[in-house]
Amino acid sequence: MQKLADAGIETHFEKQLSEDEVLVKRLEMIPVECVVRNFAAGSLVRRLGLEEGQALTPPTYELFYKDDALGDPMVNESLAVSLGWATEAQLAKMEELTHQVNEVLKALFEAGDLILVDFKLEFGVFHDRIVLGDEFSPDGCRIWDKTTKKKLDKDRFRQSLGDVIEAYEEVANRIGVPLS
Ligand code: TMP
Repeated sequence: MQKLADAGIETHFEKQLSEDEVLVKRLEMIPVECVVRNFAAGSLVRRLGLEEGQALTPPTYELFYKDDALGDPMVNESLAVSLGWATEAQLAKMEELTHQVNEVLKALFEAGDLILVDFKLEFGVFHDRIVLGDEFSPDGCRIWDKTTKKKLDKDRFRQSLGDVIEAYEEVANRIGVPLS
């Protein structure tokens, strides 16, 4: 969040209160997840029968409705507007910010010899502004080792690959996030 704020992207982060407490702005959350993909993986591979790891140029952008009971189904801007979740202008801002976040984070992970495969972001409204909320962690993105393509994200858990904590710690170490 600090790296994103440094790049001019407004986030909900205000202050680290303790090791496991963060003060954040209270956003009115928009119930969609914004997903950017730099390489094919996960549901895109299943949906279109693509080869995992196929480069996506330019990166793709998708929306999913946040509803666990429905399995977070894919939606589009038209549905989001008609169902009153967000305005066209808000959705356009979310897309613009998501691509900006991708550029910042791709470089951050690249510096640790990591590939940012894909990720999801959630936004909310704060005083009429679209602000980035939620968290960014290997639970909501895919990160591979640049050379070996080893998965270092939640796919280790989803695919029963083991060493989940070790993988998350490796990501943190490589990008300079201090571990307690
Ligand atoms: P997907 O391949 O399952 O559609 O997910 C794409 C990326 O977005 C992946 O990094 C995981 C993340 N994601 C979540 O963390 N939660 C969600 O509900 C969705 C739809 C995606």
